[in-house]
Amino acid sequence: MPLVGLGTWKSASDEAGEAVAHALSECGYRHIDCAPIYGNEKEIGRSLRSVFGGNVVNREEVFITSKLWDTEHARDDVRQACEATLEDLQIEYLDLYLIHWGIAEPKGGHTYDANGNLIVERVPIRETWEAMEELMDAGLVKAIGVANFTAPLLLDLFSYAEIKPAVNQIEVHPYLQQQRLIDFCQRLGMVVTAYSPLARPGYEEMSERLVDEKLIRHVADAHAKTPAQVLLRWGIQRNTAVIPKSTHPERMKENIDIFDFALSESEMHEIGGLERGLRLVDPFQWGKIPYFD
Ligand SMILES: NC(=O)c1ccc[n+]([C@@H]2O[C@H](COP(=O)([O-])OP(=O)(O)OC[C@H]3O[C@@H](n4cnc5c(N)ncnc54)[C@H](OP(=O)(O)O)[C@@H]3O)[C@@H](O)[C@H]2O)c1
Repeated sequence: MPLVGLGTWKSASDEAGEAVAHALSECGYRHIDCAPIYGNEKEIGRSLRSVFGGNVVNREEVFITSKLWDTEHARDDVRQACEATLEDLQIEYLDLYLIHWGIAEPKGGHTYDANGNLIVERVPIRETWEAMEELMDAGLVKAIGVANFTAPLLLDLFSYAEIKPAVNQIEVHPYLQQQRLIDFCQRLGMVVTAYSPLARPGYEEMSERLVDEKLIRHVADAHAKTPAQVLLRWGIQRNTAVIPKSTHPERMKENIDIFDFALSESEMHEIGGLERGLRLVDPFQWGKIPYFD
């Protein structure tokens, strides 16, 4: 899996396709992170078709990830969901398919009880995982994994998985470093992908955005790089893949241009000092589920 991928959450559907085409043909991206819940897989699919059809880049050179949404956990829904994603993306197989969350929900999107609590479906992860394994046997996906899995969920999954999860995709940036979970995943032989690696500067209202941190700016100046490049370099030096999202050509180029410098041990350590346990993506926000407590 290439270490830098293009994220696509909140890429507006009229921009996502163009961004993916540009990333592949002009910026050298060979890893795209998708999900049906982002609502833009059809547009991305049209771009993939034209990029692969134009012989600019071959399908085999690109690592494409998508995810199984919470409403599709039941055994009979998993294959259908995967096939729908393949059809939307206009590809024959996925390089990686992830269970998006360890939460099963009823059809029709988030539904709530009278107290505003998210209604969940009674589907064990084991049932979902076995159906994911069948997708590999059927050749629809090359690898399977999970996202947002905590250590207890992983311990349970590893107790029965015939095919071990290859990846755990989790939120990681200097404000939320998750070193213990990363170590644990790596000990289990999984690759960790860091999502929101820039701490979502365009979306979150914070007193200080990570890209504006004095320390990050200082380190960036010292290497004649940008704050985003320092944050992404920090991510790959911790042996995680990073999947920054952008729809701006200059930023997409900037975000993958991180292989011509290295952060020193003391810079890595100083950036480590920015930890503040700040989680930006949390089901407590939309479902009152204390998932990460
Ligand atoms: N598995 C999961 O549950 C999960 C959860 C969250 C995210 N993800 C995946 O991870 C990807 C990345 O995470 P994310 O989108 O949450 O956050 P992110 O990549 O940390 O931040 C995206 C924001 O950063 C801006 N940006 C990008 N490059 C920049 C640069 N060089 N300088 C300044 N700002 C820059 C983008 O704006 P512009 O687009 O305007 O450039 C956008 O507002 C997602 O797109 C998605 O694919 C997965």
